[in-house]
Amino acid sequence: MVSYKTIGLVNTKEMFAKAIDGGYAIPAFNFNNMEQLQAIIQAAAETKSPVILQVSKGARNYANQTLLRYMAEGAVEYAKELGWENPQIVLHLDHGDSFELCKSCVDMGFSSVMIDGSHLPYDENVALTKQVVDYAHQYDVTVEGELGVLAGVEDEVSSDHHTYTKPEEVVDFVTKTGCDSLAISIGTSHGAYKFTPEQCTVDPETGLLVPPMLAFDVLEGVEKELPGFPIVLHGSSSVPQDEVATINKFGGALKSAIGIPEPWLRKAAKSAVCKINIDSDSRLAMTAAIRQVFAEKPAEFDPRKYLGPARDNMKKLYVHKIINVLGSDGKAL
Ligand code: G3H
Ligand code: 13P
Ligand code: ZN
Repeated sequence: MVSYKTIGLVNTKEMFAKAIDGGYAIPAFNFNNMEQLQAIIQAAAETKSPVILQVSKGARNYANQTLLRYMAEGAVEYAKELGWENPQIVLHLDHGDSFELCKSCVDMGFSSVMIDGSHLPYDENVALTKQVVDYAHQYDVTVEGELGVLAGVEDEVSSDHHTYTKPEEVVDFVTKTGCDSLAISIGTSHGAYKFTPEQCTVDPETGLLVPPMLAFDVLEGVEKELPGFPIVLHGSSSVPQDEVATINKFGGALKSAIGIPEPWLRKAAKSAVCKINIDSDSRLAMTAAIRQVFAEKPAEFDPRKYLGPARDNMKKLYVHKIINVLGSDGKAL
């Protein structure tokens, strides 16, 4: 049993309370490899933003759970080396799907876990989430639950249709489970293909495709039921069109991909939404940079020569998100 406190991590409690009061959201970035982690920490240290490092079940399978956990410990020291005296870094399990997985993360030093029972019948979701909360709270580890189902396809998270969160259920869920934050469904979805062009309308001024508006009325309904309670938005990548264009220009074959407009996320961040999950945008930034190097320098074979530019491009993206979308810069001085 390793306590996250001994390795310099923090849980989400205090940072979420401050984020709700301050009208901003904490970035929750997924990582699977060293370059992604370096880029996240460099961006957070440079902007002095609290940050949540997210590890999915897929990431644990890909990179090895023990290695990821020690990388997060190393990230705290790296942040200090970069001049961030008081790094506020959370190590969080993303989309935990069983009690055993959540327990294993608590035991190995995670400071926060998500138990995603959103696909289960309501009572089973309540029972599973409560089981995780009862265990995690013994060690001061915070727990995110989920109500409502997001559409979209990821390796470990898939559903064809979304079901918006029902505001009338949230008080009962939070009271019965004791969870510390709640992920809700208001029309965001996982992956780069959130909306087809047919689902979108054309903005007459810019000519850009605009997806269906998020259900801000559902968010407001949830806030009314649970004043001041931390709310989480998954599936919040915006699918930057310049990265998509770069990928396709240099040999990629991405279909028309449309994400969540950043001003909508900025609006959400000003509400009780205090954690915004972004993964796909980082994948696109990494792929775009690597494809460009491969196309322009086909003789290059030193991985540092293409993973380095990929890291730089991801860092640029993270800094942009922190400053212009989340508004969390300067909140962890
Ligand atoms: O919400 C899912 C995250 O983007 C993680 O994706 O399961 O492919 O690691 P993954
Ligand atoms: P995106 O696929 O939109 O980046 O969402 C990531 C996410 O919700 C991780 O839990
Ligand atoms: Zn998610």
